Amino acid sequence: MTSFTAQAGTATAHDADWWRQAAVYQIYPRSFADGNGDGIGDLQGIISRVPYLARLGVDAVWLSPFYPSALADGGYDVDDYRDVDPRIGTLDDFDEMVAALHAAGIRLIVDIVPNHSSNRHAWFQEALASPAGSPARDRYIFRDGRGPSGDEPPADWESNFGGPAWTRTPDGQWYLHLFAAEQPDFNWDNEEVREDFRTTLRFWSDRGVDGFRIDVAHGLAKELGDELPSRAEMERITAPGQHPLWDRDEVHEIYQDWRRVFDEYDPPRIAVAEAWVEATRRPRYASADGLGQAFNFDLLEAPFAAEPFRRIVADNLALAAQAGSSTTWVLSNHDVVRHATRYGFPVDASATTSRPRTRDWLLSGAPEAELDRDLGLRRARAATLFELALPGSAYLYQGEELGLHEVGDIPDDARQDPTFFHSRGVDVGRDGCRVPLPWTREGSSFGFGSNGAHLPQPSWFAESSVEAEDDVATSTLTLYRQALALRRELQADEGLVWDEQLSQGDVLAFRRPNGWTCVTNFGSSPAALPSGEVLLASSAVDGELPGATTVWVR
Ligand code: NOJ
Ligand code: CA
Repeated sequence: MTSFTAQAGTATAHDADWWRQAAVYQIYPRSFADGNGDGIGDLQGIISRVPYLARLGVDAVWLSPFYPSALADGGYDVDDYRDVDPRIGTLDDFDEMVAALHAAGIRLIVDIVPNHSSNRHAWFQEALASPAGSPARDRYIFRDGRGPSGDEPPADWESNFGGPAWTRTPDGQWYLHLFAAEQPDFNWDNEEVREDFRTTLRFWSDRGVDGFRIDVAHGLAKELGDELPSRAEMERITAPGQHPLWDRDEVHEIYQDWRRVFDEYDPPRIAVAEAWVEATRRPRYASADGLGQAFNFDLLEAPFAAEPFRRIVADNLALAAQAGSSTTWVLSNHDVVRHATRYGFPVDASATTSRPRTRDWLLSGAPEAELDRDLGLRRARAATLFELALPGSAYLYQGEELGLHEVGDIPDDARQDPTFFHSRGVDVGRDGCRVPLPWTREGSSFGFGSNGAHLPQPSWFAESSVEAEDDVATSTLTLYRQALALRRELQADEGLVWDEQLSQGDVLAFRRPNGWTCVTNFGSSPAALPSGEVLLASSAVDGELPGATTVWVR
């Protein structure tokens, strides 16, 4: 266990509000840095890059699952919630990583996956070996099938990855999995399940973890009577909190219980909900007696344009205020096409996260010709400066600080993501944003490790590597470093005031405390450069504010 040593200029160990306006850097551990040369990123790799993270200037790291896992879903299929995947490291490595991050003034949030375990989890194995109706089966959701011999699934539900949501076991019963078949859903009405997650939260909190990102936070509570509704019947249920599977009001009892665990620590552990719910339902997840903060993925789903960006910011500031929380912002993560690439497609395509992921959009051929990589990156840099000037927490995804594009041309036989297999290749899946990071221009796996990478890296990674961008005045890495340093210096209270005079047409401008003004030109023709000292610009400005550019002025 390690104590938190704050650096000059960063929050102190006892600042319970440290998360409210934090810049949080998401590490997808198997693709960040490989310390032992087996092609898989690991905890020693992260430890070796702590100086990089410190210089980048992030306040916290969010670590995606690092637990033992068969990787049926990139680690979101957890075999054991209180251990480290031996391919990634050991609990001692974990403690060393926490100490190294804390010594550098960086906090750590870990991913908790409570909706489902993996099918290799000891409890699921026990359930399979136990009879129908046994206490072991009650920790998951087992049902008899329909039809005379029970060989039809209990309901016609589809999993989120496509294909049926029920899988039959050798003894004839069926179990529910809202994601892959390797991810059986827990029964959260079972007290043993509840107690086990309290134990897990304390286990990592005791090891010095500062907070948690809660996977599928809107899924845990389910209302499954004897008569299961059909898919069509469920689709007709639109009343808030009434759907049998998603966003039920009872889920908040679980988070109120967790809050009591978080508050056992000083400072209290924090949590952020991954909850894909109606915007108006988000404040419940973000309330102070619950998880405390919730993601909104609105910017990530929006086209690069002034009107939607303004509406999204205004709406989310109001929703966060309703919860007494701070807003969250996300432009990229491990589930979506990187924003540099999304913004390079024609505007209507960038408006959805799923469409550009289809094979047509990402592989070579006609639609690829519609991808303008330079414009995409230019807009991405502008969107990032816009995001980093907003009040609230910014969740950054590894590699976006290099301006990385999605990798579109991964051969089918190298793909790993279940969405690729379940959609029979129609959706190419999420591997394209999970390719191991390039650290150097040359060498095996561009410095990711000494012996290859678990997903193939394209040759253009050389010029997007940390080495190629390090200390280059115009690089995206330099822009992120400058922006994060300035943000730390300028960030005061969570106030934001729109500058109505500057916000005209494609231009959107807002003021923050300390005379900090952020102005973005979302259009393609130049606009007037606002008066004041230009502190930072996402693209070169020369007397005017060019298209697809953000400036910070004071
Ligand atoms: C959301 C995670 O971000 C995603 O990667 C995962 O596949 C699903 N939850 C299921 O755990
Ligand atoms: Ca490794």
